[in-house]
Amino acid sequence: MKIGFFDSGLGGLTVLKESIINENLKGEIYYLGDNKNTPYGIKDEEFVKKIIEENINTLMDYGCNPIVIACNTATSLSIKYLREKYNKIVFIGTEPAVKVAADNHMHKKILVLATSITVKQEKLLNLIDKLNIKDCVELLPADKLVEFAEDINCNKLGKEINNYIESLLINYNLNEYSHIVLGCTHFPLFYDNFKEVIAKLYPNCNISIVDGAKGISLNLIKNIKEMNNEKSTQDDVNIHIIYTKESETFKIRVKQILNLPKINIDYKLH
Ligand code: DGL
Repeated sequence: MKIGFFDSGLGGLTVLKESIINENLKGEIYYLGDNKNTPYGIKDEEFVKKIIEENINTLMDYGCNPIVIACNTATSLSIKYLREKYNKIVFIGTEPAVKVAADNHMHKKILVLATSITVKQEKLLNLIDKLNIKDCVELLPADKLVEFAEDINCNKLGKEINNYIESLLINYNLNEYSHIVLGCTHFPLFYDNFKEVIAKLYPNCNISIVDGAKGISLNLIKNIKEMNNEKSTQDDVNIHIIYTKESETFKIRVKQILNLPKINIDYKLH
């Protein structure tokens, strides 16, 4: 079984890492990061839909099934269409962990950060409606975090990243909020930055920061078991990284983010 992962760039690695470390994902993993076209969240929606389908076709050409769309933006734009058109493929989608927050918000507010595309999509708005939390939720685009994550100097940009997060959070009294939902798979890379900024701006605030990686990983493992009919699969893990533009930065960032020294990783430009 070949398991596909797809993101506009490096963000989906946060989901892949969770699946490997905490859910013991094994097997041949094909991770496609579309570094040529990243970021998606601020681009024209029709253009983004077209390149999402092209990239999914690439993963299908490699023989991947299931495919994890480890990208909130791509999921909210295309998963319905992809499921209908490619009905033999099992697609695992990503959506902001709004339900986790809704189940535990104790009548406080919920702040959802995502890309500009994601916050406008029906998929998220319908979910908020369905959970009956419309009056408690604030949606906030935070696209610049995607650029920071893709930057070779990301690890040295702590101050700039914190300043950007501060410029976003300063407009909300977080003491009135129970959760910040990181609704883009790039954002969990900045979990510590969020903690630092919140401690500075709202020292007594007891807010939870949640993301969807755990839920997606559990869903993936469940689907793999069903597809394999409970038979045991491969016992090791090989990661094949497919990228769309030659870039040493991309490869270096993959290693920094995954930080899994014992796992074999190879790279292929598509
Ligand atoms: N990782 C992405 C997401 O979850 C995409 C970010 C982007 O390319 O703008 O939305």
